[in-house]
This record gives sequence, structure tokens and C-alpha cells, in this order.
Amino acid sequence: KVVTRQLFRNLERFEHQSIELNGWVRNNRAQKSFGFLMINDGSFFETIQVVYEESLDNFKEIQKIRVGSAVTVYGVVIPTPNAKQPFEIKAHKLVLKGDCPEDYPIQPKRHTREFLREVAHLRPRTNLFSAVFRVRSLVAFAIHSYFQEKNFVYVHTPIITGSDAEGAGEMFRVTTLDLDNIPRNEEGVVDFKHDFFAKSTNLTVSGQLEGEAFALALRDVYTFGPTFRAENSNTQRHASEFWMIEPEMAFADLKDDMDMAEGMIKYIINYVLENAPEEMNFFDQYVSKGVLNRVQTVANSTFKRITYTEAIDILLTANKKFENKVEWGIDLSTEHERYLTDEVFKSPVFVTDYPKDIKAFYMRVNDDQKTVAAMDLLVPGVGELIGGSQREERLDILEKRMEEIGVPTEDLNWYLDLRRYGGVTHSGFGLGFERMVMYLTGVENIRDVIPFPRTPKNAEF
Ligand code: 4AD
Ligand code: MG
Repeated sequence: KVVTRQLFRNLERFEHQSIELNGWVRNNRAQKSFGFLMINDGSFFETIQVVYEESLDNFKEIQKIRVGSAVTVYGVVIPTPNAKQPFEIKAHKLVLKGDCPEDYPIQPKRHTREFLREVAHLRPRTNLFSAVFRVRSLVAFAIHSYFQEKNFVYVHTPIITGSDAEGAGEMFRVTTLDLDNIPRNEEGVVDFKHDFFAKSTNLTVSGQLEGEAFALALRDVYTFGPTFRAENSNTQRHASEFWMIEPEMAFADLKDDMDMAEGMIKYIINYVLENAPEEMNFFDQYVSKGVLNRVQTVANSTFKRITYTEAIDILLTANKKFENKVEWGIDLSTEHERYLTDEVFKSPVFVTDYPKDIKAFYMRVNDDQKTVAAMDLLVPGVGELIGGSQREERLDILEKRMEEIGVPTEDLNWYLDLRRYGGVTHSGFGLGFERMVMYLTGVENIRDVIPFPRTPKNAEF
């Protein structure tokens, strides 16, 4: 039994050998006394040409095999140095294992990505999606090896929580309450005392707060899991369910945090270049011209680091009219980020020290009292890839900020304990896993790097 990837990578080993190949038919071109079956076995985006001849006892049946069917081929690997593909398989036995009717949605032609989203259960059978999901798997593995090699501990933070880690109110509620008979108190407020957990709970928006608890015991930890945001933003970069990698490090400040993030991005790029060179070439050719060169350059460059105030100055003096007003204090919008990454720096850039009013309650207030020790990593094409910060370790200042912003302290008493009992400088960040995959592959829509994407009005599969 051989898979296509092995054949392409080690053709010499298999030349003139008998092999067994299992896969799905992409095309069947039947002639009078012979025919060609194009087979994809899922191990590679390339499709293998199988030649079958009249001499096979089920020749007439093979001629009728339809696109989408599952087959097993026994045959010999024949080198074809002058053809488009370096080899083909000459079948000596061909068995139809799973029939497929005419109405199979994936036909041998170019389908739009919009159409393929409507058949999300079948789209991994296309070249593009098989390549994307293979790379997605490799990126996950690369991230684990990066942190494991540095002796970080992988912490599994809860999916169901009682807290809003970002304080942004974008949570999906978790409840077993009968929606038609929700118990309410006298003021008409839903009374979660009667619910499963005897309190209000939601799906996590980030594992950071729990990560901090473990960092302040084990020092270097990371989470890698699904997170959920009920933000109703219908963009190419936002999903309602996405995966996030969140390292958290005790005795580390914002600079250490950025160094760790930069090292991680380069490690991931190098890992994928090394382990999926064929896929990277494929993306370069068919998805986003130049993506290969772009990521190679990034892996060998030093990321720029500027402060938010410097970023605003650049935008204010830009020779460009922005739709959204630029002034100190604004949250950078997509057009601003794009200008910085795509036109000014043309490479990843860390923006640090944002105004505290536009950032989360847990970020450390700087000496100027106006900004916090935050960092965002912006990259060309994708925008914000990472968001991180040094955490506020001073109990009194943290309490004051939570009060100012209106973050309820009673739910987060345990979080404040981390400052009461041996609290210390610590920092961390969150990498949007899907955005990393988009950046590497050049795929522009987050829906096309998630096996079964969840976005507003879309949870069909
Ligand atoms: O900037 P965010 O909201 O930061 C946090 O959640 C922190 N708790 C992280 C930390 O410091 N531990 O999210 C981090 C990253 C973003 O930079 C972005 O890449 C990604 O998560 N992200 C999303 N990706 C897809 N869809 C969404 N709706 C996303 N929201 C954030
Ligand atoms: Mg952010």
C-alpha cells in the first residue's frame, strides 16, 4: 500500500514496482480499448493517472466508473519523463469500492470557493482544501513543538467559564434553561440560580486568565484550544469559533513577550517550508502569487517594533485619505493597519503601548498613566495576527481599573488572588490560529481555512 505523497517524493524507489493505491476518482476518460482514471488518495493535492486496458476482465465496468467513486487500484508504477506528471500507474486490477451517482457536486472543473462552502463536507476532496487542511495540521504540530522544545507546559483551560476574559461582552451563553419558561427574579432579570451550574456561564473567549494562574505556578505555560466570540462582524478575518494559542510566562515583560512571539512565527514558517514544500509551491502558484517568497523573507527578517503613538504619527503624515479619522486615542481600523503593513513596512510589525481606554482591563498601566504595555503583531494581508500584553500585577491598580471599566470583581476574586499571593511580572499573548494559516497559505477568507466554519448565520454543518 502506497500513498501519493510517497510516490511523488521517492519515485525512484517505486519505479516498476507493484503497488496498491486507494482513493477517489477525479475523472474517468474512457476510450475504446483503454482509459485513464485520475485518482486522488487524499495524501497529496496531486492526482495520479491510472491507465486501464481492455485486457482487464471488468473493463466494461471500469469504463463506467463515475467521478467521486472510491476505488482500489493494483498496478505498476511506470515513469513518464516526458509527460506533465513524472509517472503513471498501469492497472492490473481495479476494484470499485464505493459507487457515486451522477449528481456528485464536485465535478472536474473549477468551483468557486463560495460554492464549495455550501458543500463543506465534500470540499476536502478538492486540491485546494486538501492542501490547506494538511498545512493547518502541520501548523498545529509546529506550535506544539516550538513550545514543548522550550519546556512550556500545555494547560487545558476550560471551555465553559463564568468569566468574560476580555471584558468585551461577546460571549455565547451556556444554559440548560427551558427558553419558554425562563425563571426571572422580581426585576425580570433571568435567575441563573436554577440553571445547571447555578450561575451564569458562557463559552470561553480566551483561556488567558486561567493561563495566568498556571504561569504563576509553573512559569512557562501555553493553551491551545477553541475560543468563541459572539461579535457580529461579518469580515473575512472573523469567525465565531476559532482556535487560539496563548502562552503565558511569569518573570517576563513585554519585550520578552514580543521575542517569544517573533520566534514562534519564524519557527512555524520554517517548519511548514520544510515539511510541506509542495503545498507551499501550490499556494504560491494557485492561491496567492509571491506568498512563498514573502514568508521566506519574514522567517529571515527582524520584525519592526513601533509604539502606537509612532503609528498614529505615521498615519497622520501619510499621503493618503483614510475613511476613518486618525487621531491619538482611536482604535486602529483595518485600513490603518493595512497601510502600516502593506505600504509602510511591507513586513510584520509590532505596535506597542496602546491607549488604555481601548484595551482590556488586565493590561499593565505604563508610567505615563495613559497607555498600557500591550502589543499587537500586524502582518501584511491579514492584519492583526497576535494580541498580547504585560499583565497588571499590582493589586490596587488592577482593582481600580476593573472598577473604572465596570468589570465585576466578585466573579474574578480568584484572579485577584494571583496578585495577592506572590504576584509577579508576567506576560503573554494570543495567536489567532486561523489567521496564521491564512497568512501562510495566502487564503483570504477565514471560512476557507476552517473545516466547518462558524460565522454569523452559518452553522449548517
Ligand atoms: O487580541 P485578542 O482578543 O486577545 C486575547 O484574547 C488575549 N486574551 C490574548 C492573550 O494575551 N492571551 O485575540 C488574540 C488573537 C487576535 O490577534 C486574532 O489573531 C485572533 O486572536 N482573533 C480572532 N481570530 C478569528 N476570529 C475572531 N473573531 C478573532 N478574534 C481574535
Ligand atoms: Mg486584539
